[in-house]
Amino acid sequence: MSPSPVDELCEFLRFPSVSTSAERSGDLVACAEWLSRRFSRAGLESRVVPTPGHPVVLAKSRPRPGLRTVLIYGHYDVQPVDPVELWESPPFEPSIRDGVIYARGSADNKGQIFAHVLGVAQTLEEKGELPVNVIFLVEGEEEVGSSHLEDFLKAHREELQCDVIAVSDTGMVGAGIPTLTYGLRGVAALELKVSGPSRDLHSGIFGGAVANPLSVVARLVAALHDADGRVAIPGFYDAVEPLAEWEREAWAALPMGERELLELTGAPGLTGEPGYNARERIWARPTAEVNGIGGGFQGAGTKTVIPSHGFAKVTFRLVPQQEPEKILEAARAFLEARCPAGVRLEVDLGHAGQPYLMDPRGEWGGAATRALERTFGGQVALIREGGSIPIINTFERVLGVETLLLGLALPDCRAHSPNENFPVANFLAGIRLNQELLTELGSAE
Ligand code: BES
Ligand code: ZN
Repeated sequence: MSPSPVDELCEFLRFPSVSTSAERSGDLVACAEWLSRRFSRAGLESRVVPTPGHPVVLAKSRPRPGLRTVLIYGHYDVQPVDPVELWESPPFEPSIRDGVIYARGSADNKGQIFAHVLGVAQTLEEKGELPVNVIFLVEGEEEVGSSHLEDFLKAHREELQCDVIAVSDTGMVGAGIPTLTYGLRGVAALELKVSGPSRDLHSGIFGGAVANPLSVVARLVAALHDADGRVAIPGFYDAVEPLAEWEREAWAALPMGERELLELTGAPGLTGEPGYNARERIWARPTAEVNGIGGGFQGAGTKTVIPSHGFAKVTFRLVPQQEPEKILEAARAFLEARCPAGVRLEVDLGHAGQPYLMDPRGEWGGAATRALERTFGGQVALIREGGSIPIINTFERVLGVETLLLGLALPDCRAHSPNENFPVANFLAGIRLNQELLTELGSAE
């Protein structure tokens, strides 16, 4: 007997495919090979293509002339699991409790992409053919900025020719509410490193005369925002497109208000840029976030030192029409100008991904909306989201094709956090959604 959809998903979830850790690269290859074998078993022509980073899985249905071609994109890499002690069950041993699958990657993105895989596999099994030609592109570096995928797209441009792209790597506004995401924020990363004395110094013998690198890190990080919560880098907001009035109105009618957000996050209060509500701040306004600060004595008790160095990791979330490279250069100049004497500052620029915005009411958006209605019933929520999938904008630039974002994750899926989860019902609905979507896209006017 063949394994059930949920059993198969659990197999996929057992690979610890954490893309940030170099020592995991064997697990990523094993995961890619497993997925590729699954595609082959479904009757697709599949291969694992090496890249300078983690490999890409590329699978294609037997091309039938005259049909539209849909590229389905997702990622098999996952985020690190720490703090691992906060997981109620081990992150790579999927556990099903009350109809919900708990595992790293269950929502982001293995559960969501695998729903598409099984949708296609089941259609082929039942009908012997698909309503469209399908190309699957499943990468292993999304969680680390997809830095090798643009070159991959350029090198394989011909065989990636398609009419439209479908991605399930976003969320739903609530359980059972069909959701089409028409905008994502971009992201740009930097790390600032401040160094001072050549080694940690006695703060009594030298304190007062030698600059403290950690104080400088704190000053620089604090300078990123003004007292009202706006980003203080000159020019940061210059290219930002204002929210359309229809968006503000439509979003105001959606469930999930600020009370739910407080509950969901456990934060004691909300904050942000003046003039916008929480949803607008997350979906349509740019931000600067400090993701990590380090340096100095971290042990128990006190240690009277001037640390020799410190660092901060910062990312910016960006909206149309901000340019990640310009923002990073502006941030570097801002930090350098503010760095006091007595220390050395190094600003290392990291990955950069552009924001995405499409018209949900166009031809393809209409087909996606109908497929969502058929699958879930009820009215489709049209939203933007604050997360980033850097390659979506690149698809448009390199392949000239629009992407439909049909998310299946719930607001409390805990992506990137301990106890990440995905309801079995959403996974099974995702399989049906794939089938409705391919049917609609095959016949869209
Ligand atoms: N699936 C997310 C993106 C996402 C999350 C979109 C929630 C919409 C709502 C994706 O896997 C992700 O986490 N992307 C990273 C990209 C970064 C590492 C370059 C992100 O947004 O932090
Ligand atoms: Zn993610």
